[in-house]
Amino acid sequence: MRAILVYGSVTTKTETVANLIKDELGDKLEKVVEVSEIQPEDVKEYDLLIAGIPTWDVGELEYAWQDFYDNMDGVDFSKLRIAIFGLGDQDAYADTYLDAMGILYDKFIQCGAKGGIGFVSTESHTYDESKAQRGEQFCGLALDEDNQSHMTEERVSEWCEQLIKEVWQSDEAVA
Ligand SMILES: Cc1cc2nc3c(=O)[nH]c(=O)nc-3n(C[C@H](O)[C@H](O)[C@H](O)COP(=O)(O)O)c2cc1C
Repeated sequence: MRAILVYGSVTTKTETVANLIKDELGDKLEKVVEVSEIQPEDVKEYDLLIAGIPTWDVGELEYAWQDFYDNMDGVDFSKLRIAIFGLGDQDAYADTYLDAMGILYDKFIQCGAKGGIGFVSTESHTYDESKAQRGEQFCGLALDEDNQSHMTEERVSEWCEQLIKEVWQSDEAVA
């Protein structure tokens, strides 16, 4: 199992979370890399991608992820399983909360990647609309360092345990 964590971060909050996840998963992760340093063609060779993305500019992808996204068309991600985490601000951006996580997740699925892992409940978040919402869950780990930073460590730790069960301890993770 070859796993890579790729993140984009403007004001370093997502980078800090990437490092927390790195600490939790240890040598299960082959590599942790900033998205500006990698191409879609290189990512498709892995079995698992953990992608970290904050939402910027009211509902938009973080800038380096936007460049990556623009180069995804035509790349076959069918070998890849995607787990995603997103950062946002549910108070200031309640109508576009974590939108980038949903947009990027959908793009990977469209390009052939398998998803359905690392989903979490929307329960402890208060917002109006989110492109990352799927029923009563988010399509990945939802974090809000602007308003709920006290919850981040526990959320990350629980999510890593969930991923270990869904990916490393199970042959049956949902496609
Ligand atoms: C100009 C601006 C626009 C933002 N737009 C959104 C948004 O639409 N939705 C959201 O959930 N968060 C939004 N945020 C909040 C960021 O996603 C949040 O602060 C995040 O933790 C930043 O992560 P980073 O430090 O890794 O760049 C915005 C923040 C700024 C400053």
